[in-house]
Amino acid sequence: MAIILDKTKTLFTLQTDHSMYQMKTGRYGVLLHTYFGKKGSIFDYSYLVTYADRGFSGNPYDAENDRTYSLDALPQEYPTYGSGDYRGCALKVRYPDGSFSCELKYKGYEIKKGKYTLPGLPAIYETEDKTADTLIITLEDTRRLFCVHLYYGVFEKLDIITRAVCIENHSDVSLYLENIQTACIDFLYGNFDFHTFYGRHVKERTHQRTPLAHGIQSVGSTRGTSSHQYNPFFILSEKDTSEDTGGCYGMSLLYSGDFLGSAEHDQYEQTRCLLGIHPENFTWCIKPGDSFYSPEAVLAYSDEGLERLSHIYHRAYRENLCRGIWKNKRRPILLNSWEGVYFDFDGDKLVSMAEEASRLGVELFVMDDGWFGKRDLDVSGLGDWIVNEKKLGCSLHDVSDRIHALGMSFGIWFEPEGLNEDSELYRAHPDWALRIPGKPPVRARYQLLLDFSREDVREYILRHVCQVLDSAKIEYLKWDLNRSLSDLYSASLPSDRQGEVAHRYVLGVYDMLEKLNNRYPDMLIEGCSGGGGRFDAGMLYYTPQIWCSDDTDAIERLSIQYGTSFGYPVSTMGSHVSKCPNEQTGRMTPLYTRGIVAMSGTFGYELDPGEMTDEDRETVKNQIAEFKQYYNLIQYGDYYRLTSPDGTKSWHSWEFAAQDGSEAILFAVSLQIHPNGPGCWCRLKGLKKDRIYLADGIEYPGDVLMNTGLPLPAAKTEYDGIRIHITEI
Ligand code: GLA
Repeated sequence: MAIILDKTKTLFTLQTDHSMYQMKTGRYGVLLHTYFGKKGSIFDYSYLVTYADRGFSGNPYDAENDRTYSLDALPQEYPTYGSGDYRGCALKVRYPDGSFSCELKYKGYEIKKGKYTLPGLPAIYETEDKTADTLIITLEDTRRLFCVHLYYGVFEKLDIITRAVCIENHSDVSLYLENIQTACIDFLYGNFDFHTFYGRHVKERTHQRTPLAHGIQSVGSTRGTSSHQYNPFFILSEKDTSEDTGGCYGMSLLYSGDFLGSAEHDQYEQTRCLLGIHPENFTWCIKPGDSFYSPEAVLAYSDEGLERLSHIYHRAYRENLCRGIWKNKRRPILLNSWEGVYFDFDGDKLVSMAEEASRLGVELFVMDDGWFGKRDLDVSGLGDWIVNEKKLGCSLHDVSDRIHALGMSFGIWFEPEGLNEDSELYRAHPDWALRIPGKPPVRARYQLLLDFSREDVREYILRHVCQVLDSAKIEYLKWDLNRSLSDLYSASLPSDRQGEVAHRYVLGVYDMLEKLNNRYPDMLIEGCSGGGGRFDAGMLYYTPQIWCSDDTDAIERLSIQYGTSFGYPVSTMGSHVSKCPNEQTGRMTPLYTRGIVAMSGTFGYELDPGEMTDEDRETVKNQIAEFKQYYNLIQYGDYYRLTSPDGTKSWHSWEFAAQDGSEAILFAVSLQIHPNGPGCWCRLKGLKKDRIYLADGIEYPGDVLMNTGLPLPAAKTEYDGIRIHITEI
């Protein structure tokens, strides 16, 4: 059992293979956080907590005249607003009298075999190995109106601890949640760097590492989605932590809406990290007898640097978050029509693209935006999920049949949440859009959004989506969303509950995705939001792959996929080879290089294959054969960031190594080219040091490849790409 309770029943120690987490019910019933980090002796780590008379830091009433006991300075497991702790809090509740101050006291615990689940929310699940345990600690507010159940899922082998919170109103009055953070981690000491993943549309998840200064550093979203701008995942590392040395902590939220992740370095050089729903657009009324569940957070610790931390998340998300048959089945190599033809196609054009693609070895043809309603541009038609047979020149069934006759499967694009004002749906149901009566709505990409917090709206859309899916053989669905939320107002909620719309919207998206997954268990669903605007662990529970970015330029993709790799496995990163010069940047990149970058993701193409030269066709055939050959190594091997793509090295390189160290594949792209330039060597990782490997026809001992490295050739052209397969002999 990974949950250890000491005899006094006040000290809870959670252990995974390499990490440990501890809490203790302190004096006056307050639950203190006493340890998170490297696995060590089971010991009462509260010995580290010091008590001193702290000026201007309040003392709980129960402490009577003990001025050395202040929650403002103590490490807490679930700090509340108004308890005398003036740091960021995990919980703020509006009581019926309008006040907010709240204190929680320990009430009890429960330990269960297996992993808890969360109603309507994504959660890490236990696989057949049945190695998860659950601890639920219950706290009660001192006014005795509600309980707080803190959920801990301990996955020993995965080296993760999951957390969630449930607030249960057992009073006879309504309570209003104003802020509920899923997880808090207090560090008594430490000098940390804060790693976040910021971006914008067509430049998502750029890795940023900054020293933590006094004050609060935070990332978050109030856009209704997890957003292109910041990702609901961050890392706190020690100053000298590198890819393969040093301590670091990861906090990742399984949530696709507004979030806030923060790190506060305080007056006593302590650090508090919080992660949960962003309180800005959030108020939730809990009626008597009702409960509210927070989204889940996944915590991990590595004492072997960032690379090991990433491997923990990669494994957990690949194996215990993604679901369905596509979790372990090889995903089809696809051709998506978007960048090839945009809105300009008919059925014959699509079939001719598919014919060309099938000759190259592509396995799935995806018809992107433009096949429904009045949709020849993005200004109209969204919401009208009726096949435009006039445009196609035939039925969807015909298109699908002709594509299947080529031996390919067929996929289709939807934006179920979207709505143009110029659509039949909007004309019939203007009140179904998210908009505030009397206020002109904010438009984005000429569109509004449907009120997905409403069940009737979702049911209507689901029915129409299913009608299309049932009208032809369709094996893949791309679920897109092309704007951020605004005008948060739902006609279905009373005025005191409008603060629930943003969260109810996310729950609505999850609800519909769950229904789609249940109804079409064999369908591969790919998430998308203008590229990677909703690339988060919440969506991965429903869609095992997500289109990483609308930026398909291979060189830009190096930093997007590099940043994404800190918290997410390559099996989730939608990545395609697109045409040259690139649509977004105008850059010329060799097809070979575009191939190795896309191969380090789910792999596919996004161009008109009819426009390719014969030479390019041969290259594509080879790429497809290579991807199939190395699929298992790439998807299930350990991914190593060998360099950063910041352009300071002549070759930017990354590697996949089999988990048993028997083989590896090295990819590199030249980011600098200098005539008569210096040499370049690449130290490999994940091999067995006492075995012999063959690399580029030469035999090397594993330790040599890892310690002194493999010499890389001089790049022939800018953005040259290389691939070297290394096998044990
Ligand atoms: C978004 C997606 C693209 C494409 C277009 C279609 O931008 O990210 O891949 O599907 O929408 O409108």
